[in-house]
Amino acid sequence: MGATVAIAGFTGRLARLITEALVRQHPGVVVHGICRSPEKVDPKLRSISNVKVFQASSDDAEAIKRALLGVDVCICCYLGDNGLMIEGQKTLVDACIAAGVQRYIASDWCLDYRPLELGDHPTKDPMIIMRAYLEEKEKAGSISGVHILNGALTEVAWAPFVGWVDAANATFRYYGTGDEPLDMTTMPDAAEYTAEVAYDKSAKGFFQIVGDRISVKGMAQAYSHAYGVEPKVECQGSLDELYKSAKESFKQDPKNAYAWMGPHYQYYMGNGSTTLRGTLDHDRYLGFKPKSVEEFLKEYTKDSVGNAYRSM
Ligand SMILES: NC(=O)c1ccc[n+]([C@@H]2O[C@H](COP(=O)([O-])OP(=O)(O)OC[C@H]3O[C@@H](n4cnc5c(N)ncnc54)[C@H](OP(=O)(O)O)[C@@H]3O)[C@@H](O)[C@H]2O)c1
Repeated sequence: MGATVAIAGFTGRLARLITEALVRQHPGVVVHGICRSPEKVDPKLRSISNVKVFQASSDDAEAIKRALLGVDVCICCYLGDNGLMIEGQKTLVDACIAAGVQRYIASDWCLDYRPLELGDHPTKDPMIIMRAYLEEKEKAGSISGVHILNGALTEVAWAPFVGWVDAANATFRYYGTGDEPLDMTTMPDAAEYTAEVAYDKSAKGFFQIVGDRISVKGMAQAYSHAYGVEPKVECQGSLDELYKSAKESFKQDPKNAYAWMGPHYQYYMGNGSTTLRGTLDHDRYLGFKPKSVEEFLKEYTKDSVGNAYRSM
């Protein structure tokens, strides 16, 4: 059994990791990589014989459809503004339907946004909208939507812009008690799981995976064990105070996502509303054992771990 998998946003980090996992786990797979700038595709990916690269901008429905002919499943790895994440994804879904693609893996890989209302966590609005769009198409029998939820990506949770960790300066910060459980999964693990879901024709709907569920205080402890440095752990205030400052920073500068994105993640993960609930789906694929934070930290130094996401 073979499969042809299209990946849009092919120049991105997750797209590269998913492609590597696909060809490693399923050597017979064919990958159609779709991107606006083919010259940016990693030469290592280009050199794989069963990877074909297609140039298409996110609003060029015809070029996208040509890249999707003969494809079983499309994985969207777009990351950008709401225009891309909503209109760009709708164009991609419509092109999938026009080309006869059976399944669409949405650009999610995140916390459980299903309990959120539009406007709660602005970067999750496109996911709520795309879930509804896919459900509508699914009801019409046109395509099946697939969503992978993994909490934060561990590399991102340790990046300074989120606000929990300043690893290079051995400082951890929290709102609330510091014991609130936070879900996180490394990018390579999310990619490995996605490759299995893509290859598995019966995989439809939501899938939940978690490498670790750990508090900010737990992250500080893991850091101390890994690097032999005792970090400072600072309380910044209550979750109510965090909510007010997150909403205020969004109101002041909605276009500057870096100003408000971190506090929104901290609030909606810290208050438990987006924690993954119910059964995890690890056992669907034998041998899937995502890394804990302790295992993740072994791959970095205290000075490089904050840059793990950017260096992927
Ligand atoms: N849960 C978390 O903590 C977390 C954190 C980060 C990411 N994620 C998720 O992971 C997924 C991918 O993230 P990533 O880190 O791999 O992203 P990335 O490395 O930034 O790649 C994004 C891709 O989108 C493409 N893109 C951006 N703007 C575009 C446009 N206007 N038209 C066409 N293509 C465009 C980029 O193409 P160019 O190279 O041409 O710009 C690139 O191929 C997303 O679903 C994101 O939500 C989750």
